[in-house]
This record gives sequence, structure tokens and C-alpha cells, in this order.
Amino acid sequence: MSTRTALGARTLDGKYYTSPAVYDLETERIFFKRWLYAGRSSRLSGPGSYFVFEVDGESVIILLDGSNRVRAFHNTCRHRGTQLCSQAEGRFSKSIQCCYHAWTYALDGSLIGAPNMDEVAGFDKADYPLLEVAVAVWEGGVFVNLDPAAEQFEEAYAPLIGKFQQWRLAELQVAHEIVYDVAANWKLVVQNYSECYHCPGLHPALNRLSPYRNSTNDLEEGPFLGGPMRLAQDGGSMTMSGRTCAPTLGDVSGEDKNLIYYYTIFPNLLLSLHPDYVLVHQIQRLAPDRTRIVCQWLFHPDAVAQADFDASDAVEFWNMTNKQDWEVSEMSQRGIASRAYRPGPYAELESMIATWDRQYLEVVGGCSEGT
Ligand code: FES
Ligand SMILES: [Fe+2]
Repeated sequence: MSTRTALGARTLDGKYYTSPAVYDLETERIFFKRWLYAGRSSRLSGPGSYFVFEVDGESVIILLDGSNRVRAFHNTCRHRGTQLCSQAEGRFSKSIQCCYHAWTYALDGSLIGAPNMDEVAGFDKADYPLLEVAVAVWEGGVFVNLDPAAEQFEEAYAPLIGKFQQWRLAELQVAHEIVYDVAANWKLVVQNYSECYHCPGLHPALNRLSPYRNSTNDLEEGPFLGGPMRLAQDGGSMTMSGRTCAPTLGDVSGEDKNLIYYYTIFPNLLLSLHPDYVLVHQIQRLAPDRTRIVCQWLFHPDAVAQADFDASDAVEFWNMTNKQDWEVSEMSQRGIASRAYRPGPYAELESMIATWDRQYLEVVGGCSEGT
């Protein structure tokens, strides 16, 4: 499949990993502009259920309205701006009430109660609904876009829509979650995920299951990159034992039973599709040199319901691999922060990073100021 090369590309300048000015530029041009993965839609069940998604100081309430439709609103009261919701998740009764002066909003965001405001000349509740955030549900994931002029999700995600049908992602259930705090820039995490050049040295167990040269790409340009990697043993999976730990997912069949598909979904989602489970990494930037990663193992609910269900073979495998990756990413961060750092040449095996970097630089644009 892939014939791409790194074309002489070099790693990014140090400022992209350390500079607060670059970090702020990313906020404006990426995280307040692009569709972001917010979490699994299964966190919501029934009208009024909600979870809060935080990104770069913004807080978004994602909820099911009275018609069980997913909606997203800025977590900011229209009276004096107070946050409406301080819990990470929960359930509103039929409305959302601000704790300060009891302004009350319906689940569709409309202001339905504003005590004593009838004394204010010209005040009309209709002028003060919660501010809505663009939201979409795709493959069991909730995505939000903070840009008031957001591109339609279906357009932005056109290269991916329909692509993962055989795993039937929307049906899957989170069987396990681990949250990691990594002392490294978020891009080092994405870049690390985008190549297996490091696999023989850093992940001997992984490299035995899927030798590093087995990777190919079926998405090679644009914001979504990646492709399949062949297992050494037909019918296996990425687990401590090398065997699958649950029945094959959905409609996965044929050669797909011998492949693991890895994708970077710009900017904050890494998707790893196995024959028997799906691994999701959600990347949350915290600072230029700090990243939180929410890692979830998704299985089919029928598998989870079995008395002998045990995800530990998969969980242990990726937890071990994750930790190896985070540790080397932290070491990269420290080395890059040195004045001795200068961009180095990518190997051909790192061509996907070169492509990702190019895409990133196109989005972030020039940044000379104070960096
Ligand atoms: S700030 Fe919310 S009701 Fe006053
Ligand atoms: Fe790795």
C-alpha cells in the first residue's frame, strides 16, 4: 500500500514543544476550530443526563435533551456568567438551574425562569438562551466544535465516515479505562503513536506480535492518517498472550482478522482497531509540557456479559506499552527543552509523522512572535 517517504523532512523546532505562545496559537487555530472528540455517547442515557467536556479553559455541557437528542452548551449562565455545572457528569431533572440567582434553562438551552427579571424594562427571556456548541455523534463518539462557524461534521469527517463499519463501534462498551498524566507535549504522544521505528527497541513484546515493518497506511494525507499493521500470527490480537480475548467484533472478517488498524484522528483522538476490541486514546492538552491521556478498551457488550469475560490480557498489554511510550515521550520532552536540541532527520519509517507535522504546520501557520 504505502510508498510514501519522509522526503527529507526533519523534526519540528523546539518551540513547538515548549513555547506558551505556540500553545496559545494551537488553542485558537486547532482546539477552538476543529472537531474534537469529547467522549463516548454511552456516558449519556435518558433525558437530562450529561457530562462536561473541558478544553483550554472552556467548559461544555453535553446532554440529552427531552427528545434524547445530544446537545452541547457552554457551561456559562447568561446572567452573570457563573458556571452552571461543577460535576463532571450527572443528570439534570427537567431543567438546568444556576445556583447563583436561580436562572433556569430547559434542556434545549432556552431560558425558562429568571426570578424578578420582570421588573427590568425590555427584558425578554428569549434573548438569553444558553450558548450552543456544535455537536455530532459518530461511531459511538461525541464530537464538539467550539467554532461558531464550524464546518459541518459530515464534511470534516468525510474520509472516515463509513470506514470503520465492520467494527460496529457504536455498539461497543467501555470495559476498562486508565487515565495517564504525561509530562510531555501532546504532539510527542501523537508522533510516538505514528511510527513503529521505535518498536523493536522499546516494545519487544509488541514487536513479536506485529513486527515493525508490517505497517502500511491507507490514509496518507490530510487530518486523518494511518492504516493496518499485520499480525505475525493469523487470528491473534495485541494481548499479553498474543491470543484474542473476546469474540471477533461485528462484521470483521477475512484478512481483517489478521490486522490491527491504527489511526491518528486530528487533533485529539487515536483509534486502534483490533479484531476483538478497540482501543481509544483521547488526548487532553494541559500545558506545553503536560498531557492527559484517557485510554479506553472497548468490547462488545455480549462479550462483557459472559461470565468468563476478562479484558486483562488486552489491558495489561496496552498499559505496559502505553507506559513505555509515555516514558520515552517524557524523555523526548526533556531533551527537546535543552538548548542543544535542533531538528533531526526523520527515517523513512517515520513518514507518517512527517505528514502529520506538515498538516499541523498548515493549520497552526506561522508563529514567530516571542517563540
Ligand atoms: S449568574 Fe446565573 S443566575 Fe445569576
Ligand atoms: Fe510505541
